[in-house]
Amino acid sequence: MLPQQEAVWFSNQLVSWYQQHGRKTLPWQLNKSPYKTWLSEVMLQQTQVATVIPYFGRFTERFADINALAQAPLDEVLHLWTGLGYYARARNLHKAAQVMAAQYNGDFPTEFDQVLALPGIGRSTAGAVLSLALGQHYPILDGNCKRVLARFAAISGWPGDKKVEQQLWQLAEQLTPEKTVAEFNQAMMDLGATLCSRSKPRCVECPLKLNCKAALAGDQALYPGKKAKKALPEKQSFWLLLQHDDAVLLTQRPAAGLWGGLFGFIEFASPAEREQYLALNALDVKSSTELAGFRHTFSHFHLWIQPQLVQLARKPANVQEQSAATWFTIDRIPQVGLSAPAKQLFQQLLATARTTRINNYEP
Ligand code: ADE
Ligand code: SF4
Repeated sequence: MLPQQEAVWFSNQLVSWYQQHGRKTLPWQLNKSPYKTWLSEVMLQQTQVATVIPYFGRFTERFADINALAQAPLDEVLHLWTGLGYYARARNLHKAAQVMAAQYNGDFPTEFDQVLALPGIGRSTAGAVLSLALGQHYPILDGNCKRVLARFAAISGWPGDKKVEQQLWQLAEQLTPEKTVAEFNQAMMDLGATLCSRSKPRCVECPLKLNCKAALAGDQALYPGKKAKKALPEKQSFWLLLQHDDAVLLTQRPAAGLWGGLFGFIEFASPAEREQYLALNALDVKSSTELAGFRHTFSHFHLWIQPQLVQLARKPANVQEQSAATWFTIDRIPQVGLSAPAKQLFQQLLATARTTRINNYEP
């Protein structure tokens, strides 16, 4: 919560800024109606004003009111939505129109709870329609408002977090003035969409700069906070690089799953299994070297890869369970699909082979 004086200052500053600089003649701001405000708010949810304008024009031309929208086939609604994206919005719009046709005689309801119960309408959109179209006293909190408020009051944390969102709503409630609520809410969205942009806020021009905590501290980039990254689980994999002379064994992975269909080294879940494998195949081990382990990161986990290079004295005729195994000469990267870490290791083998050749060179 802010001191009440500061809250009053905030809304006065913002509303006078809106009167001078705000947008007042967008198509949905002329001859306002709850239907047009609702339609524009839904279209504007994930989309810029400039993109929305022609869609809004075609939509209202074809569907003059809620009943017309309710009676139209969904396909036609989707067709008019084509290019706007997030099509669940269009499906919900159509569904909501049918609810209003059935329950409210095709009128947009004027009670907050009735509006909130319509498909595709959350607390912020309900507040936006009732305040912008009918002047009812409800706060809003879309993405733009969240950014402005988080910066102004230095509210850290990710707004998707319940506690942070609750703090922002409280602030929005405190700041939203009794009078001029429509102008205030429109101003919040306009300020967030123009001056208080995500990456380059133009604080010098901002009516809130004298009390904006982030601008005063110069740390606007910290707000709104980002979602905490979950620590990824760490798995381990023990790889076996079987080498004989200047060739190394690669196997093709099953088509489904991790690195599906790519070639890689033989892998095990534990060093013990790797040892067992060497014994079971009666491999004639000449030398064995643990190579440096390294981490490979997938979207859902880290994989710690521990490679072991085993030099064989004899090339085995057949290696158990490795039907898709192929010996590749270590003179160039194999011309097959390779997993990134396998390629990395193969490059290491190539570098070693080159050094060995140079060291053994006798003119
Ligand atoms: N984004 C969502 N609603 C908006 C509105 N009414 N004006 C500008 N941007 C918006
Ligand atoms: Fe946003 Fe800057 Fe204005 Fe603060 S002063 S609300 S950071 S534009």
